[in-house]
Amino acid sequence: MKATRSIPVLFFLLCGTACAQQNRPDAAPYRAKNGMVVSQDLHASEVGRAVLQGGGNAVDAAVATAFALAVTHPAAGNIGGGGFMVVMLEDGTATTFDFRERAPAASRPDMCLDEKGEYDSARHHFSHLAVGVPGSVAGLYLAHQRLGKLPWKDLVEPAVRLAAKGFRLSPGLAAELAGRLKQFRKYPATLAQFSKEGDPYRAGDLLVQGELAETLGRIRDRGAAGFYSGKTAELLAAEMRRGGGLINMADLRDYKPVEREPVRGTFRGFDLISMPPPSSGGVALVEMLNLLEETGIQTAAFRSPGEVHLLAEAMRRAYADRARHLADADFVEVPVERLTSKSYARTLAATIDPRKASSSSPTTFTWPAQGSETTHLSVVDSRKMSVALTTTLEYSYGSRIVVPGAGFLLNNEMGDFNPRAGLTTEKGLIGTKPNLVAPGKRMLSSMSPTIVAKAGRPVLVLGSPGGRTIINTVLGIIINHLVHGLPIQDAVDAPRLHHQWLPDKLLVEAGALSASTRAALEKMGHLVEQRSGKQGSAMAITVRRDGTLEAGCDRRRPDSAAAGY
Ligand code: DON
Repeated sequence: MKATRSIPVLFFLLCGTACAQQNRPDAAPYRAKNGMVVSQDLHASEVGRAVLQGGGNAVDAAVATAFALAVTHPAAGNIGGGGFMVVMLEDGTATTFDFRERAPAASRPDMCLDEKGEYDSARHHFSHLAVGVPGSVAGLYLAHQRLGKLPWKDLVEPAVRLAAKGFRLSPGLAAELAGRLKQFRKYPATLAQFSKEGDPYRAGDLLVQGELAETLGRIRDRGAAGFYSGKTAELLAAEMRRGGGLINMADLRDYKPVEREPVRGTFRGFDLISMPPPSSGGVALVEMLNLLEETGIQTAAFRSPGEVHLLAEAMRRAYADRARHLADADFVEVPVERLTSKSYARTLAATIDPRKASSSSPTTFTWPAQGSETTHLSVVDSRKMSVALTTTLEYSYGSRIVVPGAGFLLNNEMGDFNPRAGLTTEKGLIGTKPNLVAPGKRMLSSMSPTIVAKAGRPVLVLGSPGGRTIINTVLGIIINHLVHGLPIQDAVDAPRLHHQWLPDKLLVEAGALSASTRAALEKMGHLVEQRSGKQGSAMAITVRRDGTLEAGCDRRRPDSAAAGY
């Protein structure tokens, strides 16, 4: 046990759950003076903290944590998926890295339709055709080349060790793997990796992933080339040929991550730095925050009918714009400037009736004033360099396909393309044109790694998984913390809200609304529904006025952990 580990984390190590304060609403906030990593897994957060303590910067720690998550959080941590990284440097400048998966060259817009031309959801989400060309390794490599300090090998090595020597399964992960056995049986390599010859692992068992260790070893020794060429690439391409997928050696060779300018906005004196397309997150967040500023969200009490109404109406409008306009801006024109402008917020604000819910329809984007799996990690280092990194396989365990011989899971990210032009439904299928499949195109994402800053210094570093809910999870935490002044852990804990245009309903977590607030919203015309599960798993760090760091580590998932020093 390291002396630097704080009492809450010590508590969680001892009791087998890692997130500071889980089930202990009275616990003190988890703080650190120098650097901090928050992620969905304790082993991974500890790897990141050791990198910081060893002189690495926030990018080094994020890279090492991300590789560790590929071993210890297999549902979403990955090398077979993709993601986005937002970085704010010590000097206040910022940049982003886009390593979203791309459609293989042989992709076609109708590839998710069956022989009769009907939408085939299994093909779209659960087949070798659902796998996009992975971007994670290339993206982490590029970010490290641009901004890292420590040798690459030192950042990948902890993950190699975790895979080769194994790690003890937490009760949460053991239960999750056991619950997925039926799905894993479809692919022998997946079953072999995540079960004891078909029997479930139990909490406390050692999970050793030998083939993954070898693949990570090639990445450690050869950088991105250890994934996109040679043995790893050959094994991936062979699995694609075997299963009827499209990715070949040329797709892997041609994959390029992109460094992009962040999307920027302001909100009540704070600067927002977030991810541009192919993420929809940055644009939608700025659009919603502009609209909420314009409509005076700060005058409404926390969870009052007025506040929730404004939030729902802002969400509805931003998600409609998302469906209408957002996609890979390397392929289609995306009006980022207009959507994120204050003047657009004024236009939209005029369409909100303070007493009445608007209605959403698949056939119009106008507003007459009538009536699965991803993971996020945040890092701040001792010089206040900050990283928000969200990475995904799309669903939990992605396509569920482990590449035989290479030991890693492949994404099912092609499911994030719109499956068929015109197929926009009340239930929430989107058929708008910008996000249709094209060779080499990146599918639209909701991942929203975000940094809020003031005067060139980070104030809040955050993000979350949760598919289309991600943007609203991030929005809610920003509002809870910056507008309502909730301490960051409380801002993360607060039950969440989600409206995504279609279906036209406000989904709320249990406990989000009092009976009277709910009744008032229903009277305004909102369809309010309590979701059965939980929304997201946010990982946030705030930088306090005195420069200390405070964790907002989501207790919705069992193994989340903050590690600081
Ligand atoms: O990029 C996206 O928006 C989705 N592939 C994210 C999926 C996700 O967050 C599932 N996690 N719970």
